[in-house]
Amino acid sequence: MFPSERLAVVERYAALLATEGVVRGLIGPREAPRLWERHLVNCALLGDLVPGDSSVCDIGSGAGLPGLVLAVARPDLRVTLVEPLLRRTTFLQEAVETLELTNVEVVRGRAESLHGGRTFDIVTSRAVAPLGRLLGWSMPLVAPTGVLLAMKGSSVADEVEDASEELARWGCDEPVVHLLGEGLVPVPTYALQVAWADPTRVSWPLAADGGGPGRPTRRGRKAKRRRQE
Ligand SMILES: C[S@@+](CC[C@H](N)C(=O)[O-])C[C@H]1O[C@@H](n2cnc3c(N)ncnc32)[C@H](O)[C@@H]1O
Repeated sequence: MFPSERLAVVERYAALLATEGVVRGLIGPREAPRLWERHLVNCALLGDLVPGDSSVCDIGSGAGLPGLVLAVARPDLRVTLVEPLLRRTTFLQEAVETLELTNVEVVRGRAESLHGGRTFDIVTSRAVAPLGRLLGWSMPLVAPTGVLLAMKGSSVADEVEDASEELARWGCDEPVVHLLGEGLVPVPTYALQVAWADPTRVSWPLAADGGGPGRPTRRGRKAKRRRQE
């Protein structure tokens, strides 16, 4: 999962999570013994879906999952970690300095604070919000040819179903679900990939209030009609 030359850095990050991360309440004490299989390896697997030299925005990074793991495993990426809570951004900034990472920027704030200002090739998240809300926070940050990659649990198909109206309202393409880590980790995770249906129609600024870029598409209106019937 990690190139051999980055292994020492990942080990230092794992040690930071197991010590300062636990002491500062960013990682539960029960997670410390299973950091590799439940957190670090899962997050690194997401890198398979990230093209070389991409700009990545990880929203709701917490203690750096998955954004910091991607930055360590993939020095070719430019990673922005967005996290509103000071206690967490302080840990993230310290981790960046301790690990001597030069490809990471830490932004304290909500994802919405970047809407209309910045876009990225890839917008990642793990355990941040249900898909409907996550689209409102993430899609305004996704470049026209970029994608949202959200790490999700086994109820991913239900989440997609529940968010059908929001997917249509945001003008998203049909989501693609990837299974990560089967046979490698005890609990495989899913990565949900969402792209724009028509990159040529994406224009900024998109609404920061989660209202979507405009009138519901035909797919959205059809879905709404189906629900009303
Ligand atoms: C359950 S934690 C998950 C942390 C990390 N991604 C992980 O998997 O361990 C959710 C994180 O999302 C952050 N968050 C909540 N709303 C947010 C928003 N609108 N924009 C960015 N981050 C947000 C919270 O502060 C919290 O750190």
